[in-house]
Amino acid sequence: MSQTRENLARQLAEAVSEALRADLEHQERALLVVSGGSTPVPFFEALSSMALPWERVDVTLADERWVDESSDASNARLVRRHLLTAAAAKANFVPLTTDDATPEQGVETVAARIAQLSWPASVVILGMGGDGHTASLFPDSPELGLALSTDESVVAVRTPSQPQPRITLSAGCLHQARRHMLHLNGEDKRAVLASALAGDDVRKLPIRAFLACPLAVYWAP
Ligand code: 6PG
Repeated sequence: MSQTRENLARQLAEAVSEALRADLEHQERALLVVSGGSTPVPFFEALSSMALPWERVDVTLADERWVDESSDASNARLVRRHLLTAAAAKANFVPLTTDDATPEQGVETVAARIAQLSWPASVVILGMGGDGHTASLFPDSPELGLALSTDESVVAVRTPSQPQPRITLSAGCLHQARRHMLHLNGEDKRAVLASALAGDDVRKLPIRAFLACPLAVYWAP
């Protein structure tokens, strides 16, 4: 990994740690919503060693693949392996999957589970794919319109471009946060973000759903 990307991951971890610490000054628990994928790993590892009252922090995911946690594709597995270690092992993790066979069967259970958390979240960390998706708000998903407009907190998503069914927090739910931080690397994603900033069709580049709310962009080449 480039030094620049390592430095970026550390800066993001410091910003998230400061945000959680600030909110925990005046509330009993704080909520951190993170994204999966490959980009977050050095950020998770930097954050995991930060000194915080982690026992008062709830961590959940912006989205998840509907797979068992033993699967390499599981975002919960990624978070447990790289974030919920060291000091952060004391945090309370709230997964987005159930034992149901499909996300459609599990969505109500997951919605009830996350409703118990300390919304608004202190921080939502978003990633972005090369197609401009964020969380599991994919341009080619038949459920994108619903996920962008529903008052429900969680949506089951089937996407031709993705091998597994997914479950995602809705755009409305993801907006329930004091701070939004977008973490991405590389020239390709920078160009996609530039296109997103230059237009307004959210269906084409769903990351646009978060460009209006204050968004801290953490990008490295
Ligand atoms: C997921 C993520 C997804 C991710 C982007 C970027 O479940 O895959 O939540 O939204 O943030 O796909 O992924 P990379 O960091 O692997 O490029």
